Amino acid sequence: MNSGPSITANSPHFQRRWVEYYEAIAGRPPRDTLLMALELFSTELSARRRRTAVDLGCGEGRDTVEILRQNWRVIAVDGEPEAIARLRRRSDINRTYLETRVQRFEELTLPPDVDLVNASFCLPFCPPAAFAQLWEEIVTALRPGGRFCGHLFGDRDSWSAYCDISFHTRPQLEQLLAPFEIELLDEEDQPGKTALGDEKHWHLYNIVVRKR
Ligand SMILES: C[S@@+](CC[C@H](N)C(=O)[O-])C[C@H]1O[C@@H](n2cnc3c(N)ncnc32)[C@H](O)[C@@H]1O
Repeated sequence: MNSGPSITANSPHFQRRWVEYYEAIAGRPPRDTLLMALELFSTELSARRRRTAVDLGCGEGRDTVEILRQNWRVIAVDGEPEAIARLRRRSDINRTYLETRVQRFEELTLPPDVDLVNASFCLPFCPPAAFAQLWEEIVTALRPGGRFCGHLFGDRDSWSAYCDISFHTRPQLEQLLAPFEIELLDEEDQPGKTALGDEKHWHLYNIVVRKR
């Protein structure tokens, strides 16, 4: 999905500093996109069975904690063993309905009939060559009426200079979202800072969608 003249064989690779990131965001609340999706489910007829969410790129668990708190079953996935170790050590979770996996997006396999796939600030870190397969896995796993919520990066994001980050133009995003009804599609395009305090231009899509 990446495009644009800046992508060449010599494009730099993104420097991953996940452990520093986990330290920096420790104690932060769940993402607004997740809260909106959970709220939308709560207005629907309550399911007789326990609902199942997949929290992709769960990190140290800021979103997983909230989904468990709302009595869902959660499959929390992250490619970084330290993320899963930190999540499992948390004292503020009940692990009865938590399954954790150290798995990279490039090898992701999901069960069928998932109610929610949450992917906060993580899918862009899937290498572009593997993104289409990852997205297909997510869409296929969701039941009709299930939701995806999370974030993708737009093509004006300053990290689009990195060859191993996936970013999407607005038309590309609309194509990805074709199997869904859009409940939130909010685009941010402004200078800001990362969680580690570095300056960057954010071109970000905040997404909550419901599978048709
Ligand atoms: C920016 S953090 C987001 C963590 C959390 N979801 C949040 O909102 O704070 C991105 C997470 O994605 C994970 N990640 C990055 N690339 C990945 C990949 N290719 N496969 C699996 N996980 C990956 C990282 O280990 C990290 O925990």
